[in-house]
Amino acid sequence: MKFNTILLSLAAVLMMLTSQVALASGGSSVALKHANIDVTDREQLLRGLIVFTDICMGCHSAKYVTFKGLMDYPELGISREMADELRGEKPLMSGLITDLSPEDATESYGKVPPDLSLIVPGRRGGADYVYSLLTGYAHDPEGKVPEGNYNLYFPGHSTAMPDPLGWLDHEPEDEAEIIQQANDVTAFLAFISDPHQNERRTMGKYVIGFLILLTLVLFLLKKEIWKDVH
Ligand code: HEC
Repeated sequence: MKFNTILLSLAAVLMMLTSQVALASGGSSVALKHANIDVTDREQLLRGLIVFTDICMGCHSAKYVTFKGLMDYPELGISREMADELRGEKPLMSGLITDLSPEDATESYGKVPPDLSLIVPGRRGGADYVYSLLTGYAHDPEGKVPEGNYNLYFPGHSTAMPDPLGWLDHEPEDEAEIIQQANDVTAFLAFISDPHQNERRTMGKYVIGFLILLTLVLFLLKKEIWKDVH
């Protein structure tokens, strides 16, 4: 294949990929806000864990994350004392399970709150969606959706989840803190949905470094082998 042909094929592949991305991010009428998260930032993940256990776990579980896992993932690495404090009577190998029974949830909210272990990859928009949802409560301009249930980002705008961080009608001086809580808990949820993502990224860098080195060695070897052939 000629160099030009290779370049053209590459360009075609790139164009196909970008149009796929454009398609995937379209569809929703409201543009999402951007979540400010870093899944390698231990401080943020720890703050997010506390928001999760203090607030969200009142209704939601994250059943695929265990208290032991919170100790073992290097990104979190909480102490045994903290794990004991968070789990109370639950075993160390238990998932982060809410005390709210499905029956009580249905009675109070009309719905069972979904498990949040995989919510970030499970929703279009991922972390941006979760962050937007938490800071998306508003007054229904048409006054149809009951007060407290209107959310700009929830499909159909009427959500059964009561404004967990108190975004609706918050005082201006509380805004920065709510935004921080929303970002922190979103970071935590993004992390637990794929707790080995950081290891994989580090590994990826090593693999790429190795491949570059290998290319260099092969190139030098080729020059050496062909040096007497003219
Ligand atoms: C008082 C109970 C309650 C609390 C506290 C609560 N939620 Fe919810 N949550 C719900 C209910 C009920 C739903 C189902 C909403 C629906 O389908 O209309 C829900 C749904 C969700 C969804 C899924 C939305 C979707 O697209 O289906 C996410 C994400 C979510 N909650 C995140 C959180 C986070 C993060 C917290 C903590 C900051 C939290 N929730 C606190 C009750 C709660």
